[in-house]
Amino acid sequence: MCGIVGYIGEKPAASVLLDTLSRLEYRGYDSAGIATLYQGQIHAGKDAGSLMEVVAKQHLDMLPGNIGIGHTRWATHGGISAANAHPHMDCDNEIAVVHNGIIENYEILRQRLKGTHRFLSQTDSEVIPHLLDEYVHTGLSLEQALQKVVKELEGSYAILAISSREPDKIVGARRESPLIIGISPEGNYLASDALAFHGITDRVILIEEGECVVVTRVGVSIYNESGEKVKRAPIKTDWYHGELSKGLYDYFMLKEIHEQPAAIRRAVCQETAEVMAIAAEIRRVKHVVFTACGTSRHAALIGRYVFSKVAGIFGEVVMASEFEYFIESVDSQTLVLAISQSGETADVLDGVRRAKVKGAKIISLVNTVDSSLARLSDRVLYMKSGPEVGVAATKTFTAQLTLLYLLAFALADKYEEGKNQLTSVTAKIEESLVADADETNDLALKLKNQHDFYFIARGINFAVAAEGALKLKEVAYVHAEGMPAGELKHGTLALIDRGTPVVAICPHDYTFDEILPNIAETAARGAYVIGVSDKFESLFNEWIRIPPVPELFYPLVTIIPLQLFAYHSAVFRALDPDKPRNLAKSVTVK
Ligand code: G6P
Repeated sequence: MCGIVGYIGEKPAASVLLDTLSRLEYRGYDSAGIATLYQGQIHAGKDAGSLMEVVAKQHLDMLPGNIGIGHTRWATHGGISAANAHPHMDCDNEIAVVHNGIIENYEILRQRLKGTHRFLSQTDSEVIPHLLDEYVHTGLSLEQALQKVVKELEGSYAILAISSREPDKIVGARRESPLIIGISPEGNYLASDALAFHGITDRVILIEEGECVVVTRVGVSIYNESGEKVKRAPIKTDWYHGELSKGLYDYFMLKEIHEQPAAIRRAVCQETAEVMAIAAEIRRVKHVVFTACGTSRHAALIGRYVFSKVAGIFGEVVMASEFEYFIESVDSQTLVLAISQSGETADVLDGVRRAKVKGAKIISLVNTVDSSLARLSDRVLYMKSGPEVGVAATKTFTAQLTLLYLLAFALADKYEEGKNQLTSVTAKIEESLVADADETNDLALKLKNQHDFYFIARGINFAVAAEGALKLKEVAYVHAEGMPAGELKHGTLALIDRGTPVVAICPHDYTFDEILPNIAETAARGAYVIGVSDKFESLFNEWIRIPPVPELFYPLVTIIPLQLFAYHSAVFRALDPDKPRNLAKSVTVK
């Protein structure tokens, strides 16, 4: 994973790099570092810890110069340490490199270089500055050296490099990891995500797979894999409507939970013709396969029920990391519906690439415009959620559901009806967010010392149970399992004891009467039952009240108190819900 940035221009590079990096911390926050160039020397600082901690420890803001590169890390190869933090250097400290991705053949390359080069870290990335150094010493320029180096690398990468011998440029390259250029009168920028340029510039150039770039104060040169120069004009982006500050909220997660009604309203506003075109593609094929990871997969699970109930279309959900093991069954009669907030999740991209080779149609639901997934797809619907900073997905989940509802209603030739229903459900969510005020907060306080939670539901609500449990695990570090209520008796019931919290997602819909016996089975064994419903039931020890909505739409309202419960549970445990340990928002490694 990791986030990388670069800057060359008139401003002090260190402050620009730290500012842009701070908006990429969602990509990892194990360690951070920057390198600048000044008076023919590289000045670098790096350490373990979040960006703010490293700035405080290493005084990164004091590094001189108007050109530099930076990195925020999510550890893959090599533990979390100062030595493994980026930038990495060649032996003479003349070349500094930041890298996002995984160099799969790094062991072989390291063995080859070891006799003549000194390695200071356990990372795969450190081979890159040493390889660059080898080529530069044969008389090549930094960009020529990078073009040679990338031919030797197997795996994924977005790389930025600077050299004290060529102090007027940053060179970069990408394959399977994102890299974008930002253009402004005060200088030029590079970053893993255009979010880094928020408030700085909206003029960007997208770098394509396999390309290398040279960025100077005044211009940009792009080279394709064959080394030929490519012309590409900047495009204007207004991708990010959202505010990037927490406003009146203590954490982004809470702010984003409250932004959900607005996010759903934006997601509903799609080009009708595009939605209809996608519906027509779906009708044309024999097999519909949803693929996604994490929260997006939970949206897919709900989408599967909605497609079946509204349009009679049966779809399979395949976890993206498992997709390749089913690839034999994919052909030109398959439509892959890939769902991803970031559009950069490596497992999703891998599955989609493999499916494309087999002739499948690719439709994606994405938040980040022009992300890798969007670019790989035949057609895209954008969530339009604006930036989601909290690592745990909230508003993009309900936006994904919104798109899935729209598609299902379009498939059933009831598009306008679907839009109207979504609009009235959104008003109910708004009311319930106001009404909740202290309810989930008090419950989280009461259950603060519980270590195991079981979330149960049936039918369309099952994935809400899974998502409620995931939220609690992610941000409060509490063991939680979400499962279909009917499965309880096949094993998990053995774990239910006096006082074990069981969260039953049981809106007054077609599942209500069927889940009651399952709730009773847990209550009989002493479970502390928290019912999430619009109908009170005497088995509940606690009742989280939700507004009644048409039964198909309950997932949009039942998830809200579960997100809030997880949030408050994290805060009561003195944890930062925006940056859970060991996790990152965009997982660009397999
Ligand atoms: C990571 C994030 C999750 C997210 C998942 C899929 O694990 O921490 O919040 O649901 O990736 O991300 P995507 O961008 O593909 O939706």
